[in-house]
Amino acid sequence: MCGIIGIVSDKQVESYLIDGLKRLEYRGYDSAGIATVNDHQIHRRRSAGKLGNLQALLQHEPIQGQIGIGHTRWATHGAANTENAHPHSSREVAVVHNGIIENFFDLKKQLQKKGHKFESDTDTEVIVHLITDYLHQGDQPLKAVQKTLTDLHGAFALAILFKDDPNTLIATRQGSPLVLGIKENELFVSSDAVAFAPWTQQVCYLEEGDLVVLSKEPKFNYVLYDRTGHKVERPLRRSQITGESVSKAEYSHYMLKEIFEQPTVLSDTLQSLLNFENQMITLKDVNIDWNTLDRIQIIACGTSYYAGLVAKYWFEKWAGIAVDVEIASEFRYRNPVLSPNSLSILISQSGETIDTLAALSLLKENEHQVLALVNVPESSIARKADHVLQTLAGPEIGVASTKAFTSQLMVLACLSLKIGRERGVIKPDTYDSLVQALVSLPGMISHVLQNSEDYQKLALSFTTARNCLYLGRGITYPIALEGALKLKEISYIHAEGYAAGELKHGPIALIDLTMPVVVLAPYDEWFEKTLSNLQEVIARGAQLLCLTDQKAAEKIKQQVKSVCQIEIVVLPFVDSFIEPILYTIPVQLLAYYIALLKGTDIDQPRNLAKSVTVE
Ligand code: F6R
Repeated sequence: MCGIIGIVSDKQVESYLIDGLKRLEYRGYDSAGIATVNDHQIHRRRSAGKLGNLQALLQHEPIQGQIGIGHTRWATHGAANTENAHPHSSREVAVVHNGIIENFFDLKKQLQKKGHKFESDTDTEVIVHLITDYLHQGDQPLKAVQKTLTDLHGAFALAILFKDDPNTLIATRQGSPLVLGIKENELFVSSDAVAFAPWTQQVCYLEEGDLVVLSKEPKFNYVLYDRTGHKVERPLRRSQITGESVSKAEYSHYMLKEIFEQPTVLSDTLQSLLNFENQMITLKDVNIDWNTLDRIQIIACGTSYYAGLVAKYWFEKWAGIAVDVEIASEFRYRNPVLSPNSLSILISQSGETIDTLAALSLLKENEHQVLALVNVPESSIARKADHVLQTLAGPEIGVASTKAFTSQLMVLACLSLKIGRERGVIKPDTYDSLVQALVSLPGMISHVLQNSEDYQKLALSFTTARNCLYLGRGITYPIALEGALKLKEISYIHAEGYAAGELKHGPIALIDLTMPVVVLAPYDEWFEKTLSNLQEVIARGAQLLCLTDQKAAEKIKQQVKSVCQIEIVVLPFVDSFIEPILYTIPVQLLAYYIALLKGTDIDQPRNLAKSVTVE
């Protein structure tokens, strides 16, 4: 979703702002803009489309200034055009905004009655006019912003510049993240520390309702106020995000880099949980009595929801505990009946997804125990949950989630073994062999990645497809869903994932020569049945891509007559426990190479945003 950057510096900030915005591109956007204050005037440049358009504009019409704000906008209120692009400004102030002002319509009507003229269709513009109105009434910038905040309903983060106070930038958050970056002679504020990662690692995360005044004089200082308007201090931290961790290195796309990082990040994530000497899984700072639990509900969106679906198989089998998996955007529309002995696990890479946050609020209102699994430990979900587990995937920049998903699976797999052991459900030797399977995984994934060229060739036969079906049975079923989601997100080919057993209950009607089918068919307890589904697909003329292992491949070759219709990719044979993690790699590579051939914008697919902070 939208990205904010603000910079107070002793140098010209135009190119800094653009650099920062480039690192926020991953969030998804459709217009961009920057503003500075110089010579007691606000200077502003905005452009629809990608940042390249804004850069081209700035080449012809550069702007000066050592204090500035920038924004990438993901359209909500009003089309993705220049008029609606941020910053929005009056003669006196310029504002960039993430989130939504829910009462903007009424505020706009009131302001229009007072004679304010609006230039855009956005909700943001009311903020500009409210602050301007208070300034006209004689308030100082801080007071004008504080009064404006009391008028606004919704979830938002703001950064604001003032024509008559060229040394001051004010930023505030309420429901949308904001982080401060501190350096000698420079201060930054952004929706994500990624934006200023090459310039400073010293950061301070704003709490809900905080407001910060960044001042150039004297000596680049900042003052923080809490939601009640009192001065507060917040801890300074060292961000783990470095310039290097947000670079594409030698890869053509972040997504490819992140796919290839999986052996390392899975190994890091496992090492953070497992004592290799005694094979014990330790969850630091998570004090839950697993024996008293009678149920777990997992709540998440998109790919994180699919991680929850896999976990259901693991927890039920290895920890003997009933699991419900819920789509976060629906959770609060039911009247969920929560057992006092149940635990809710919320999974979110970003830790900022609004629907997952809303589910969390509902759970907290009901005094329900929540464990969050996040990739960003400073995120809103992590701060509000009772217990936190972290994936060590590092920053994920590609919009389509890859390494964050497999890292979530790694944590959930460990969690299932830990709970199973504490509840006495899993036998010690089975526990040891499953731990060993997890230890072997990074090596197996490296092996699959070494053969990534195979997927480039396979991708060729998908580029003309308009629809595609993914089938899985048992624990690979959620990976069929994830494979289909990856494909539709980045290649724009319509794809659906189905439990192979569901094929006959409807989707088989779609199958013909034009519909490729990807089947996840490892040689596991479900293989024989999947083989029958495979025959059914072949009989209807479809082209089949079978992701399988050596033993299953031999069976397929023996039993399926029209092998010419089948492409077989042989993966290492693994315990079914780790199948979902290993089989994710080929579906990611396949989606990536199909999208590459189609020439789509792989890292920032159309209409998508990395962290979905509006409902
Ligand atoms: C798909 C994808 C999304 C996210 C979903 C939840 O590739 O990235 O489906 O998984 O928006 O996001 P988080 O995990 O940040 O809550």
